[in-house]
Amino acid sequence: METGNASTPPNWNPHSWQTKPASQLPVYPDTAALQHALGQLARLPPLVTSWEIEKLKQQLGEVCGGERFLLQGGDCSESFDDCESGVIAGKLKILLQMSLVLVQGAKKRIIRVGRIAGQYAKPRSAGTETRAGVSLPTYRGDMINQPGFTPHERTPDPTLLLRAYERSALTINFIRALIEGGFADLHHPEYWDIGFVANSPHASEYRRMVESIGESLRFMETLAGRVAGDINRVDFFTSHEGLHLYYEQAQTRQVPHRAGWYDLSTHFPWIGDRTRSLNSAHLEFFRGIVNPVAVKIGPTVTSEEAVALTETLNPQNEPGRLTFTHRLGAANVEKCLPSLVRAIRDRGRQVIWCCDPMHGNTESTSNGVKTRRFENILRELELSYCILRECGTHLGGVHFELTGENVTECIGGASGVSEADLSRAYRTQLDPRLNYEQAMEMALLLSRLMAKERQVAT
Ligand code: PEP
Ligand code: CO
Repeated sequence: METGNASTPPNWNPHSWQTKPASQLPVYPDTAALQHALGQLARLPPLVTSWEIEKLKQQLGEVCGGERFLLQGGDCSESFDDCESGVIAGKLKILLQMSLVLVQGAKKRIIRVGRIAGQYAKPRSAGTETRAGVSLPTYRGDMINQPGFTPHERTPDPTLLLRAYERSALTINFIRALIEGGFADLHHPEYWDIGFVANSPHASEYRRMVESIGESLRFMETLAGRVAGDINRVDFFTSHEGLHLYYEQAQTRQVPHRAGWYDLSTHFPWIGDRTRSLNSAHLEFFRGIVNPVAVKIGPTVTSEEAVALTETLNPQNEPGRLTFTHRLGAANVEKCLPSLVRAIRDRGRQVIWCCDPMHGNTESTSNGVKTRRFENILRELELSYCILRECGTHLGGVHFELTGENVTECIGGASGVSEADLSRAYRTQLDPRLNYEQAMEMALLLSRLMAKERQVAT
């Protein structure tokens, strides 16, 4: 084992996770084929760079100080079929538009992070699925196998790791090009597709907010004598669940002139709620990489575990290194969040509190369709915001499952998606996402909440 330096903890290397219990990893029948694919992956160029990662880490450090706010969102699970221009542009556009709305209310700079360009591996509650007496491996995301229920499609295929890397590269390439070119339609909120505003009880407030976004953009353009630079050259970062540790390991590198190991498959990987136990392979891998990292925490986490997570993942107590993405559910957040926040606060640990109001609010309709209710999502967000403030800290960010398309997967919102509408455009392979209008409305409501709180505070 290697000994540690300032950036690499003692007894860590990119494969030390293999000595720990690893859950949620696929079983490949052909291990030689797996090694071959990983060998190729380890030689291919990285998807992101160390200086982008350092920039994000620094910006996340400013979230701890209350100067920035994190907006993270995208698909539950990306699909290879959705790697096409309209879908990618749609996701980028919704996140950029939401960030313009949030900046109005928060009066803070927004860090935009997509669940994109690598979100291809999923934890599942069961290893196999049985239909009509036939049992096959569960679908674990396009990086691992395919959703169709045949032995061929469900057998984990290591060449899909390379396909995932390539799709991620294509996605990130297009995003970089779009950002470089500037998204002209962002400058004119009057052209945004937000007809739902008329049906909202907050219609006039929304309209005022959108108008003032347009006015401030035009004001900046007038001052600068050109199209507002800040909008044209926004930062945009990628994230995904670092579930498939072989994939992550193959992209983990040392780079010239910097200490430590960077996971260069994404800027901001996270550990899922099911793989975050203290002795897990996932924690072992994550403790040694220098990227900023997040951990999803659900209602079963204890305060002691939360503190131990901060000690293992952020022993230097660096602001911005560690985000807790809490996904407790509207029904549990009041019971669970305050003690977690106090335990972390009382020990002086630096953590960003980022609310994922999606994963604790999943339910099934009477027809067995997986959905989420807009009102529960909003409620968890609002409660989290208030609890964090009452505990003497602040909500640092939000994490949504959303898409730029007009799907009908979540119920509610001013556009009025009902249970009966779900079958109309239900496209997700896994969890239900907010559609374009629901995501914009969520941003407007959150922005409104932050603006109100600021007024109370001054
Ligand atoms: C997810 O983000 O899609 C997910 C599986 O979340 P969690 O680990 O919080 O359950
Ligand atoms: Co999900």
